[in-house]
Amino acid sequence: MTRRTGYIPALHFGWLAPAYDPVMMFLMRERFFKHLLIQRADIRPGHTVLDLACGTATLTIMIKRSQPSATVIGIDGDEGILAIARRKTQRSGCELRLDKGFATALPYPEESFDRVLTSLAMHHLTSEDKRLAMKEIKRVLRRTGWLHIADFGPPIGVYARAIALLLRRLEPVEDNYRGMLPVMMQEVGLVDVNATDKVATVFGTLYLYQGVKPA
Ligand SMILES: C[S@@+](CC[C@H](N)C(=O)[O-])C[C@H]1O[C@@H](n2cnc3c(N)ncnc32)[C@H](O)[C@@H]1O
Repeated sequence: MTRRTGYIPALHFGWLAPAYDPVMMFLMRERFFKHLLIQRADIRPGHTVLDLACGTATLTIMIKRSQPSATVIGIDGDEGILAIARRKTQRSGCELRLDKGFATALPYPEESFDRVLTSLAMHHLTSEDKRLAMKEIKRVLRRTGWLHIADFGPPIGVYARAIALLLRRLEPVEDNYRGMLPVMMQEVGLVDVNATDKVATVFGTLYLYQGVKPA
């Protein structure tokens, strides 16, 4: 299945987009795992940071608030979700840029970013598109720049395995469950790849992965 310029919307159906933030807040321990992701990313003053597949821009805004002198850009393929993100960004008073574009063809020159963060997006991509997206991320990262991913991984425990049966039917999450995200990161040439954290949520076990583009 190829989906280079298409996308699966945030809650699978575009019409559910307005429900996305409440679902995330109440069911996904969103603040907790996104704070952890930002902490792992160790974003420094002056860094340029990409939030890939930013959705409603919750993480994008959190990144900017955590490091106000960083240049922060969010990108997503869905104009509908970006409209929500733009309203939220305006209300937040944060200065950040939101672009429309696809993970598989990022509209940025090589070596543009010190950090790329991406949350709950990889499991929306086909295997082929995951690989293309990883290549694109490596291309736009500066040398010694880090990729930080928060997404589903191998389910831990009976509950997570049961919920995985359902998610498998909805989204191309099989690579995640088979532990392929860190493998794909290594395949494109990122090094020091590891899983730093595992977070239990209503929709399954989230993993935080990181890897660096060699000098
Ligand atoms: C589950 S949401 C996650 C949103 C946000 N990162 C978060 O953590 O709340 C997945 C997002 O990925 C976006 N997406 C899916 N496929 C994409 C692609 N190929 N390129 C860019 N964005 C994509 C969807 O539009 C959606 O906003």
